[in-house]
Amino acid sequence: MIDPEYRFYTDNGSWTNHVEDQIVVMDFDQRRHYAIRGPSSFLRLADEERDGIDGIEVLKRYMDQIDPAIHTLFVDATGTLVSTSSDPEEDPQQAILYPSLLDAPSLQDCRMITMTELTELDRIMPGIDLMSYEDDDVTAKKVIFKNTPIMQFQERRWREIIMLHSLPTHPNIVALDRIVVDDTTSQHILGFTVPYVPAPSLDKDPTQVFRLEWFKQLTSLVDYLNLELRIANQDIAPRNLICFEQAPAGSQLRMIDFEFSTAMGLPWHVEEFNDVKGVIFTLYEIITLDSSYRKVHPSEQNPDIVMNLEEWPCRRPLDAEVEIFRQHLKEWVTSRQAITMSPTTPPPPPFPAMPKPRPVAYIDFAAQQPAQISIAQLPRVVAEEYGNYIISWQRPPSSMRPSDS
Ligand SMILES: Nc1ncnc2c1ncn2[C@@H]1O[C@H](COP(=O)(O)OP(=O)(O)OP(=O)(O)O)[C@@H](O)[C@H]1O
Ligand SMILES: [Mg+2]
Repeated sequence: MIDPEYRFYTDNGSWTNHVEDQIVVMDFDQRRHYAIRGPSSFLRLADEERDGIDGIEVLKRYMDQIDPAIHTLFVDATGTLVSTSSDPEEDPQQAILYPSLLDAPSLQDCRMITMTELTELDRIMPGIDLMSYEDDDVTAKKVIFKNTPIMQFQERRWREIIMLHSLPTHPNIVALDRIVVDDTTSQHILGFTVPYVPAPSLDKDPTQVFRLEWFKQLTSLVDYLNLELRIANQDIAPRNLICFEQAPAGSQLRMIDFEFSTAMGLPWHVEEFNDVKGVIFTLYEIITLDSSYRKVHPSEQNPDIVMNLEEWPCRRPLDAEVEIFRQHLKEWVTSRQAITMSPTTPPPPPFPAMPKPRPVAYIDFAAQQPAQISIAQLPRVVAEEYGNYIISWQRPPSSMRPSDS
């Protein structure tokens, strides 16, 4: 189940005129949007520190009591529900338009699967589900489906597909499995799957033993990425690493998230996120469970502070003394500092741009005539009115899933 802290998200479409506010909230559990409307004095959308939280609180309070067709809740100055709407014309749901795999020449050798072939097993995070499908040999294969129910996820899914597709097979990298499309004719890219690793990521279970050998797998993987492939991961953290004790020797540690990765030398490559720094903080966090040193702005994250701390309080079982882990870290950091990274010659090829969504039928309101447009999203009711085919992400609340009741 999605952690309640991450389940709701204040999305585009929110507005305020300082008398009345509308807060559009995405519920990642049901994958649908609600609008909460009421006095600005209560909803406080203009208060950046609130970040729409007052609308989210209203939704949490009433969502189990309202008819499933209702999408808008009107509240008074005390936050009490006064009326609702299920009028399709007012539905805050947007229709997202997706790029097609047919327009992505570099991905033509990727295997695809349609979303309907995937069966949901669990909802893990916003846009991250555990699914299964029948593989070629008719066995059920468990996969993580990284999907795109809001437009803001499109670019990052695209980047990760391109990056995973470019990586050679490696025992410590969770590889691209399938590109998920709506159907095999239009091939709209809705996300991708990677094989499921049957163990928690390193942020999840502080009772899991962490082994020196796994840390060595991490440092050599980072050397491989940085020094051989000239790729920077830029998001090395316990939540992006999984250790699977039963895996064959040398492959227990797996890196799972390449969303911020880039070829070195491209504009996306940012020194503040360098991987040596990432490994230092990651080892510190794995051992001490203290992530406070990365809670500040990246430019202020100083790995030397962590390196020079006299003591690292050990809050997780390890198969060697903390000092031995720190010694390996120190030697590795020193070895990396001795390497001068030459500027890449020739420079890496530019990152392929995400194809534009295929045009859909629309009305050009200025010219008052039908038109074809290629945009990222448009109101669902408008998209439907002009006969466009819409991807539907909505699903029943997880509280109604048979396995959860
Ligand atoms: N292949 C996998 N096998 C098992 N669990 C996975 C796998 N991929 C992801 N997960 C779980 O889902 C979580 C989120 O996955 P991932 O890091 O890919 O998503 P994300 O949206 O990029 O998250 P974040 O931005 O917080 O790093 C991971 O921390 C891990 O717990
Ligand atoms: Mg991650």
